[in-house]
Amino acid sequence: MSLSEVETPVPGPGEVLLRLAYAGLNRHDIFVLNARDEKSAPLVVGSDGVGAVVDAGPGVDTSGLSGEWIINPCLGWDSPDEVPPVPEILGDPRWGTLAEYVVVPVSNLARPPAHLSQVEAGVLSLASMTVYRALFSVGRLREGEHVLIPGIGGGVAALAMDFAKAVGAKVTVTSRRRAVLDDAVARGADHAVVTGAQWSSEVEPVDVVVDTVGTAVFDEALRVLRPGGRFVSIGATTGAETALDLRDLFFRQISVAGTSMASAKEYTAMLEFVTEHGIRPVVGAEYPLTGAVEALHALEASTHVAKIAVALGDRKGGV
Ligand SMILES: NC(=O)c1ccc[n+]([C@@H]2O[C@H](COP(=O)([O-])OP(=O)(O)OC[C@H]3O[C@@H](n4cnc5c(N)ncnc54)[C@H](OP(=O)(O)O)[C@@H]3O)[C@@H](O)[C@H]2O)c1
Repeated sequence: MSLSEVETPVPGPGEVLLRLAYAGLNRHDIFVLNARDEKSAPLVVGSDGVGAVVDAGPGVDTSGLSGEWIINPCLGWDSPDEVPPVPEILGDPRWGTLAEYVVVPVSNLARPPAHLSQVEAGVLSLASMTVYRALFSVGRLREGEHVLIPGIGGGVAALAMDFAKAVGAKVTVTSRRRAVLDDAVARGADHAVVTGAQWSSEVEPVDVVVDTVGTAVFDEALRVLRPGGRFVSIGATTGAETALDLRDLFFRQISVAGTSMASAKEYTAMLEFVTEHGIRPVVGAEYPLTGAVEALHALEASTHVAKIAVALGDRKGGV
């Protein structure tokens, strides 16, 4: 992993070149990097970003392209029900946003919600679209229901809490870190418990679990689901394997579902939701481009809180 000088990419048919102001990091960047070896071709990781269009490929109508854009990082998935085998994500194999320039399909551009700062817009997309689909399309969370969100120190979990509160759900969060729990309560969590404790004695039965943490919390999270509850898995930061007694599912009539990223339609709905409720992603740390490698190490170590942004040069501009 290194910072290198590379050729500016050239947009092909239906594509645009963006000059980025910020990129946002995601755990996906770490998974992609860790899956590579010395024989792998060079790759720029990164899925989130904000910037301005500075060039366009053949067939792109350039009128109306001025101003600031964010990127839907999920490529080629339009409708919620037509789930792709594995959603393709910007940053693998298509070069991503941890660079001053990125090429994306023009159809993946979106206007950032007006209430967001530039850096907030730069970290919004991937986590927010995933959370939107997980809570509402798959988890079917409704006003008045109780949702458990483990590992609230993570950027995805933090947004999940804000989205759930926005529809009037009761939210219980967990964390290994006391200060993170206190902060979550200050930001609106109804109940906060330590990861690793026996939640079943501390947490009222929940209707929905939305989990990014994986192995470390799976058993305990399943235990606090009410009969007929829904478990939605969207990540596995601590590992992906777990032993499951199927009787826990069928006697208690638990639904377990997985989801990854979201369709273009859900992405648009997410942006409207974020705008309507004035939701802002929390930027826990900001690094300069020269600190990008350090930023990725910080993400891997899980020592940060919420989203990490990398500043890429011009904060405003483009054509
Ligand atoms: N399916 C998708 O489309 C999709 C999209 C986005 C993200 N994800 C996945 O969602 C996960 C979350 O990503 P993220 O960037 O928000 O956060 P993250 O940095 O991966 O960490 C999530 C949280 O997990 C908890 N955690 C970490 N190590 C732990 C341990 N050893 N024991 C118990 N808890 C631990 C921490 O919470 P506390 O510090 O609060 O304890 C941490 O903040 C990742 O696995 C990511 O790949 C999936």
